[in-house]
Amino acid sequence: MEKKRSSFSRYGFILAAAGSAIGLGNLWKFPYITWHNNGGAFVIIYLVAVIIIGWPIMMAEIIIGRRVKKNPVPAFEKLGGKKWSLVGWLGVITGLVILGYYSVIAGWTLTSFTKCLKWSFSGYVKPGEEAFTNFIGNGQLQLFLAFIFILATVLVIWRGVKKGIERTTKILMPILFCILIYLVIMVMSLPGRDETFKFLFNPDFANLPTAGILEAVGHAFFTLSLGMGAMITYGSYMDKKESIAKNAGMVVFLDTLIAICACIIMYTIIFSVPSVKEGVSGSTIGMLFITLPDLLYTHIPFGATIAPIFYILVAFAALSSTISLLEVLTSLLIDKLKWTRKKATIIAAGATYLISILCALSLGAAPFLSKWQIFGKGKEGVLNTLDHLAANWMLPVGGLFITIFVGWVLDEKICRDEVSLYNEDGSPKFTYKAFRFFIRYIAPMAILAVIVAVFAGWDFS
Ligand code: TRP
Repeated sequence: MEKKRSSFSRYGFILAAAGSAIGLGNLWKFPYITWHNNGGAFVIIYLVAVIIIGWPIMMAEIIIGRRVKKNPVPAFEKLGGKKWSLVGWLGVITGLVILGYYSVIAGWTLTSFTKCLKWSFSGYVKPGEEAFTNFIGNGQLQLFLAFIFILATVLVIWRGVKKGIERTTKILMPILFCILIYLVIMVMSLPGRDETFKFLFNPDFANLPTAGILEAVGHAFFTLSLGMGAMITYGSYMDKKESIAKNAGMVVFLDTLIAICACIIMYTIIFSVPSVKEGVSGSTIGMLFITLPDLLYTHIPFGATIAPIFYILVAFAALSSTISLLEVLTSLLIDKLKWTRKKATIIAAGATYLISILCALSLGAAPFLSKWQIFGKGKEGVLNTLDHLAANWMLPVGGLFITIFVGWVLDEKICRDEVSLYNEDGSPKFTYKAFRFFIRYIAPMAILAVIVAVFAGWDFS
């Protein structure tokens, strides 16, 4: 039975799409990859990627989704024929892989939350150096946490996305936003401030590892939820009256702002407190989970009150992202196999959890999973490998096909009609022409250049 498509209310798209975009990518991943890639130059490449690739592709995905009002697989099939539906399938698989490891990291937010609750009530005890390594190496606990997170996602998807998530994100995202701004203001008085700004905004291209360019492009896709059809799915709920360019621009802006805020907060504490700086290199991956609680309990006024609230909000930010990931596969099972939403949700979640199991045990619990690697040093273990594979390869490749499809295959009339930017005399506005130029030439060439450069022998390390 064809599911009736309702559209988001006004601002509903921005909220849901920003909910999908803003998540662990901003708060956990961006700060640590920026750190590994030595800041400044990486940030510039990332910002360029977001503007010249991210924004146009987000518009392209929304165009496809809003036009067909379907899941990515049937959407591509309807607009481009059977061959193109493969791009939809690639997206579905990518989503499954990402959700598999994302739910493991998301599970960590739950532990941070309970720990902070305890600290807030009975006083902060600085965890030992090995605490984080022991925590991620605890297989059973990791399996349990990932399970809880997937279960939470299931409970929302089960009821349909709109009611649960649109309403929840409307309240939670602004609170998360306010807390982040508060933290930024608070860290401004710490001595590490100047070094942080220098690190982030003073580019030194000699310091940028070559693989960092691919990572910046890959992360632009990841953080904006692009390249796998999540925005096609959300675009299918967007009201016809909404401006695609403005909505996409707003999501891109908010997402980037939050990522930069997260860096400012974390790096300032790192640069302010010598003991933190020394410990950071080994566990940058745990920045959000080690550095930040320490800052909150030792340096920030009202930190003890904010900490548990902050981590529960991070958990919700992650949840509004996992929902968009699981929804793509779920809605496909409903559309294609005519399953009920409940059945589709459970099967999709079950398949995801199989991947989560491998990821959860690859952080120390099962040595053969921890050592497994295809991308070389620094990317060992199933979790890291899948993250690298999905974010740096599967999403950009999916994105490349999306640009080619919308730029070169799709009837331009559809594009014009959806973007609908005209002057009074009926000629297309400059913004439309710019979009057209970016989606046809700049974005695909930039993605291709990066992919070719990596194949042509740039190292992966
Ligand atoms: N963008 C989210 C984040 O930054 C993660 C995410 C949600 C995602 N849906 C996606 C990534 C779809 C890629 C594709 O945390």
